[in-house]
Amino acid sequence: MTLTANPLRAGPRLSRIPEPSTLVIFGGSGDLSARKLMPALYNLALQRLLPPTFLVVGTARAQLADALFRDELHKAVSEFSRTKPINEEVWRSFADHVHYVSTGTSGGYGVLGDTLNRLEGELGMPGNRLFYLATPPSAYGPIVHGIGAHGLARTNGWSRVVVEKPFGNDLASAVDLSEKLHEVFREDQVFRIDHYLGKETVQNILVLRFANAIFEPLWTRQYVDHVQITVAETLGVEERAGYYDHAGASRDVVQNHLLQLMALVAMEPPIAFDANAVRDEKVKVLRAIRPIATDDVPNTTVRGQYAPGFIEGMAVRGYREEDDVAPNSTTETYVAMRLFIDNWRWEGTPFYLRTGKRMPKRSTEIAIQFRSAPHQVFSRESAAGLEPNTLVLRIQPDEGISLKFGAKVPVQGIRIRSVNMDFVYGASFMVDAPDAYETLILDALRGDATLFTRRDEVEQQWRLVDPIIDAWRAGQIDLPTYASGSWGPTEADLLIARDGRTWRQP
Ligand code: BG6
Repeated sequence: MTLTANPLRAGPRLSRIPEPSTLVIFGGSGDLSARKLMPALYNLALQRLLPPTFLVVGTARAQLADALFRDELHKAVSEFSRTKPINEEVWRSFADHVHYVSTGTSGGYGVLGDTLNRLEGELGMPGNRLFYLATPPSAYGPIVHGIGAHGLARTNGWSRVVVEKPFGNDLASAVDLSEKLHEVFREDQVFRIDHYLGKETVQNILVLRFANAIFEPLWTRQYVDHVQITVAETLGVEERAGYYDHAGASRDVVQNHLLQLMALVAMEPPIAFDANAVRDEKVKVLRAIRPIATDDVPNTTVRGQYAPGFIEGMAVRGYREEDDVAPNSTTETYVAMRLFIDNWRWEGTPFYLRTGKRMPKRSTEIAIQFRSAPHQVFSRESAAGLEPNTLVLRIQPDEGISLKFGAKVPVQGIRIRSVNMDFVYGASFMVDAPDAYETLILDALRGDATLFTRRDEVEQQWRLVDPIIDAWRAGQIDLPTYASGSWGPTEADLLIARDGRTWRQP
């Protein structure tokens, strides 16, 4: 018996190696492929985590020879890989199995099918295929149709499809897209990406909560005063206005990343760490989030748009002056809102969510603020420096967790000040965390959908966001601006101040 033949004796790295398979990337010559997918694949190759026989076939409209495609990818990987410099030997053996097929001409899908059959045949592969849709969403329908019509997903092996966000533009379009996917793929073959779920620190939310017994008893309305979830970026819209100006922060970040973070923080313990158990619990808590009634939208949500200002000392343009943004655009680049969860654990506990572009600092964090001690035995003067106990999960940057509590200042008499107990990822583990795309591609190749969003989750997320967008569109709420480099419009401060609370400054 060999070591690797016994999964129980295989090390964690070996046990994660997928079966021989082919990754077909639609939009293979595009931006996502260059910046994220190929660097992730190269890093997986470097860690020897790819299957022993692995093919990558990129496809897009353009006509490109294999050699040129590989050259372009080499440049992209050299620029965007998290590990540098590139190990040329690893790159060469990976690139030898990278090919390109144009699907821009009529008959392109037929050629793609023939190429896949030929290449897999030459290598004696079983026809396990992962189709990755890394194109603008408008191409998803035609691509899935092409895959179905040419039988590309009907092989002797497995076939799966990875779909990038945005997954629809609202509930109706998300349902429509799922229907189209289901004409060719069963739900268990569909892997919807929310790249936040691939981040190590996001997965660690579940580990913190469910691998430790000390936090869970406190994780309820009885002890938690409120929760703040922040996704702040210093970047502006960059070159993505064509997409972003139609999406805005509510569709771009709230509908997916923010609601997923909230679901992970608020869900009940799953019965196991597997795809359906975890997603069943997430969807349950998403269903328990109280939808914001149209009348409440003005009081419980704030949107804003960045005006000119300064980021890290540099003058930056306002959103309406950005390339490809309409000068009278009413797209929001900032959203704040208050949500409640109608269930036993969280009844009455507010969850404050906010996201913005052109904030003073890049920071994604979840702050769980606990209630004050029921009775203060120390004098008001002694406790003047005491802030509420807060557990902060820093998703990025400075990945880690800190717990704020009161400590006695070492002087005569009692004076209390808040201090932090800090766990810093980098210092504790001394290894670079894998990029989210490495984790997600590997999981999709292995058929593990735990970190991908299921149809019912995505649809529930739209059910929560659609009415808010509708109310904004109906003109019920202003679109204030905020200076780039500030923490958003003053209306957002008022939103939380009405409840006697303040936003944290990450
Ligand atoms: C993407 C959004 O999903 O997430 C972008 O489309 C945003 O607008 C990005 O900038 C943030 O991701 P990260 O990993 O940089 O926090």
